[in-house]
Amino acid sequence: MKRSYLLSLPLLLLLSCHSPTADKPAPPVEEAPPLFIGQNLPLSSVLTTITLGSCNRQDRDQKIWGEIDDEESDLWIWLGDNIYGDSEDMEVLKSKYLQQKYHPAYQVFREKTPIIGIWDDHDYGVNDGDKNYPKKKESQGLMLDFLDVPLNAPVRTQVGGFQSYSFGTPGKMVKVILLDARYFRDELERNATGYQRYKPNAEGDILGEAQWAWLEEELTNSDAQVHFIASGIQMIPEEHGFEKWANFPKARARLLDLLATSQVSYPILLSGDRHISEFSRLELPTLSHPVYEFTSSGLTHSYDSFSGEPNKHRVGEVVFQRNYGVIKMDWSAGVPALTFQMKGLNGDLLQELALNF
Ligand SMILES: [Fe+2]
Repeated sequence: MKRSYLLSLPLLLLLSCHSPTADKPAPPVEEAPPLFIGQNLPLSSVLTTITLGSCNRQDRDQKIWGEIDDEESDLWIWLGDNIYGDSEDMEVLKSKYLQQKYHPAYQVFREKTPIIGIWDDHDYGVNDGDKNYPKKKESQGLMLDFLDVPLNAPVRTQVGGFQSYSFGTPGKMVKVILLDARYFRDELERNATGYQRYKPNAEGDILGEAQWAWLEEELTNSDAQVHFIASGIQMIPEEHGFEKWANFPKARARLLDLLATSQVSYPILLSGDRHISEFSRLELPTLSHPVYEFTSSGLTHSYDSFSGEPNKHRVGEVVFQRNYGVIKMDWSAGVPALTFQMKGLNGDLLQELALNF
């Protein structure tokens, strides 16, 4: 599956900018025409290794990309907070995306690994942001540029950044559904004090009706054996005090109902945002196998002072040092056998979970 690419135009531009013979200051890095390398994965590819992660500051140590590169994965999935943009100035957001995109460690990785992804709040443009962020349309374009989404892809003109990708051959199909949990998200009212940062929005929504209709279609009419459903914020955990789908109980129930009524084959939820990693597991009465969630965060910084938090759905332990995620898929037995791994700096295996369907 691993493929190599010719030295890309952006890299050549960068190398030429760093010529030691140049007396004058190097010109600023300009974005080259998209090469679509991030999307260059044949749809017939049978995936066996996916890497994933979130919470990546473009101005922090990027050493972890060398470890991720060594995984030789078929696909990388960004789970949000892919940069820390945090601005309504699109020139600022763009320059931060370019800083990440052309960081040498990440650039080596992205030139040989197909990449897809979705945003969370910081790359969207505002901490804990919602539908009221005024630059969301422009920000969506910058995210898609960063991901090298082709200029003619439908998401380029779509309202909202949600996307779906299917890979594999009959009987070994994987669908990746990337939910946009920011563009249409209703407001949350902040608590003045206490562990819970926000008051639940009992009637509030996260996806918006157009995205709900799209998601129902993606789940109902699917030939895939495994469905990865990604959202920046966590979907299963209910108790912690930060952002989560559980702050919108009606939307969370709707999502879980949709998984059950669509009878989707092997739904696997993916999330980031938390600066910790954990596995969660939920039984749905009408679904024959449990729903797992792999929360993977963070790549460049983590919740070092973490001292514990409740999650009745958790399987295993919380990892709170810098880490990335690996999902291994073994198709040899007919039914896909999946293993989740959390890996740290130096590629150390921090925790592993073989899914028990
Ligand atoms: Fe976040």
